[in-house]
Amino acid sequence: MEKDFVWGVATAAIQIEGGLYEGGKGESIWDVLAHTPGKIKNGENADVSCDHYHHFKEDVKLMGELGVDAYRFSIAWPRIFTNGFGKPNEEGLQFYSDLVDELLKYNITPYVTLFHWDLPLEVFRKGGWLNNDIVEWFANYTRVVAEKLGDRVKNFITFNEPQCIIGGMDGWGHAPAVKYSTKDKLLAIHNILKSHGRAVQVLRETVKDVKVGYAPCANPFFPKDDSPEQLELARKAYFSLHLMSNFYNVILYSDPVFFGDYPKEYYEMFKDDVPNITKEDLELISQPLDFYGQNIYWGGSVSECDNEAGFKEDPLYPGYPKNTINHPIMPHVIYWGARFLYERYKTPIIITENGTSCMDWVHLDGKVHDPQRIDYIKRYTDELLRAKNEGVDVRGYFVWSFIDNFEWDNGYDPRLGLVYVDYRTQERIPKDSFYFYRDLIKDYKKKNSDDKAQV
Ligand code: NOJ
Repeated sequence: MEKDFVWGVATAAIQIEGGLYEGGKGESIWDVLAHTPGKIKNGENADVSCDHYHHFKEDVKLMGELGVDAYRFSIAWPRIFTNGFGKPNEEGLQFYSDLVDELLKYNITPYVTLFHWDLPLEVFRKGGWLNNDIVEWFANYTRVVAEKLGDRVKNFITFNEPQCIIGGMDGWGHAPAVKYSTKDKLLAIHNILKSHGRAVQVLRETVKDVKVGYAPCANPFFPKDDSPEQLELARKAYFSLHLMSNFYNVILYSDPVFFGDYPKEYYEMFKDDVPNITKEDLELISQPLDFYGQNIYWGGSVSECDNEAGFKEDPLYPGYPKNTINHPIMPHVIYWGARFLYERYKTPIIITENGTSCMDWVHLDGKVHDPQRIDYIKRYTDELLRAKNEGVDVRGYFVWSFIDNFEWDNGYDPRLGLVYVDYRTQERIPKDSFYFYRDLIKDYKKKNSDDKAQV
């Protein structure tokens, strides 16, 4: 976070790496799901994906051409511990160490995510997030990664979208795609939050000058007009457990981290399903953070109503703009998300993910023209910079994704990259949006240095 504003791109291990069993890697719950008939669109899997495991040098060279300040990637826990526990896998560690060296060659700052959903199968077999011992297993994994990379990596993100880990406990969609009770889900959330806290402690003990963040997702609610009443209504809805389903809401995963306790509504709503929560747990969970990562794509608005919550979500108008994975295109949510979250948690914000899937293909001229993604990035970054200019402490923006990849249970149909991948040949083709983002970064930097020179 040394720069005024960090422009980056993001990916996650299982979505791009491939090399399923190579270099001593073990299986994750996602590898198992991807090999279970009927679970992934078109029967696809992540065995090879973009084969980044073998193409990382070529990929980092492209990032160099893109001119990003930073690259956010995740570590596959089962690459570090083949079976989840025991002796660390040196080959796996070396892969990430080589990747980091390559990034540094191009002056690109690595942002490492420790957990982006690929839980080692053996850890799952021992109860996964329901086994209280996972907190120390995760701490141990964090220590091994930090000891190997911490001399060169200074920016870490503990968890990506914990909401989707819990989403995998609904019995469909995400791994493990097993149905759990509310009580079990709440225990899993508590153990995730404790693991987050322990990881922060370990990182601070192990890595000199470390900066630690956390990246839950948030579907912000925005006010329908400028009146104080609408502003208050949107804020109330955003920070209530009543909407976006109880387990998806941002405060469930953020209040304990920043305020040292779950929201009041949590105890009222879940009553006997609440796990045993001690004062020590809450202290552990609420370790100070350097930045608050946020993956923001879309959100919504609400109207007042006399139900228990006091509001209900507004439907989208017919024909609302949406992308190929059905995400509504709502650039202003990034402004309201950053603004409301900073107001509530008072921690510098980094947009750790934002981007869109488009109908991308190679045109007759051999190029990939993606005007919709260009329009999307322009609109969302304008809105984010609006928040920054108004005083919201926003420190960075990462496009999801650097490269097309395995979009979980949706397989390879959705293309979210700035770089197109021909999965038959592994050829990479930078899309038009790649050059657009390159120029956007260049222009921002030029303007910023001109402004500074004038002061
Ligand atoms: C959020 C997730 O963190 C990422 O893995 C996913 O591919 C993107 N959203 C797009 O759906």
